[in-house]
Amino acid sequence: AVTPTLRNSASFPVGTAVDDSPMNTNKTYSTILGNEFSSITPESAMKFDRVEWKQNNFDFSAGDAMVDFALSHNQRVHGHTLVWQHALPNWVKSFSGDSTAWEGIFKNHITAMVSHYKGKVKSWDVVNEAIDDNDGSLTDKDKYGPGTGSLWRQHLGANYIVRAFKYAHEADPASLLFYNDYGNDNGGWNDAKIKSVISIVNSVKNAGGTISGIGIQMHINLTTDNKNIKESLRQFAATGLLIHISELDISVNPSNNPLFVFSENFKTLQAEKYQFLAKTYREVVPKVQQFGITTWQFSDAYSEATLSGKNDFRLLFDMNYQKKAAYDSYLKGLMN
Ligand code: G3I
Repeated sequence: AVTPTLRNSASFPVGTAVDDSPMNTNKTYSTILGNEFSSITPESAMKFDRVEWKQNNFDFSAGDAMVDFALSHNQRVHGHTLVWQHALPNWVKSFSGDSTAWEGIFKNHITAMVSHYKGKVKSWDVVNEAIDDNDGSLTDKDKYGPGTGSLWRQHLGANYIVRAFKYAHEADPASLLFYNDYGNDNGGWNDAKIKSVISIVNSVKNAGGTISGIGIQMHINLTTDNKNIKESLRQFAATGLLIHISELDISVNPSNNPLFVFSENFKTLQAEKYQFLAKTYREVVPKVQQFGITTWQFSDAYSEATLSGKNDFRLLFDMNYQKKAAYDSYLKGLMN
């Protein structure tokens, strides 16, 4: 019998975040990437600090390599991310022009990115993480320390989100445009953020703009309440927009306890949660709105947690690129 793969088992795209360095140099990594996934999101390669690290001097090479990889493996590319207060180069962080000059930087970046990838990148996270964790307001203040507030919000006013969607749409009218955030996966617990995402969607629509979908990042852990996950999927699906679980990973040691051991019990709990997610997505989100589920990388050998030195094992493949229990259960959840 042929061994099933994730991409062949689901009726919607199964995605993963990808980094250019292992994609180009690690055969094990690139083989799994090509075999198992039908959609890719550049983890960093299309971010502002990687591409326009010097003003109006765009280095598209890392993103272009991903587009080529995707083309030769019949994969969709989801662009990430045009507007974010993080991953900005120093020249932006220290820019001291007036609001007209800020608007110029903002529009130029969005337009250049979307135009360059027109017809190749079918969808974009246009605005990422613009909402305060606690009260649902737009983050204009450095409330959580220097540089934590959005420079875009500070210099461009609250309507910058509406204009970001407008500029992206003008550059490629066929592209699917998303608002992407975390903490909107916990309906019943963090309702302020969910309400605020929906009001962003409405503000773009009311201004006559185009918004195609909502990205629910889903960086969760074993204690994230399944009932709340289901409730937030239900509320977002009610908008009628495309729904992308855009950055799924499931932490087993969220407090980063150095003594934590990834025992059989924890492996099983993680596996069950992956299965629950895939199954619930299929049940709650109508078929026409199923943009797909994307995990944030696929192996613990190359995860954000491992690269930042954490004792955590969030993904589908282990440190040796072997399938975990999480993989088998995720596959089941995608299928039935
Ligand atoms: O590439 C350089 C390397 O040359 C250098 O030696 C090294 C030393 O610090 O840094 C490398 O760049 C790092 C890059 O990841 C690639 O690994 C950056 O410092 C680091 O800040 C960057 O972190 C990424 C982060 O976003 C900021 O862009 C994470 O990998 C990435 O997983 C994370 O992704 C975010 C999403 O975009 C938005 N949602 C949350 C999500 C997880 O935090």
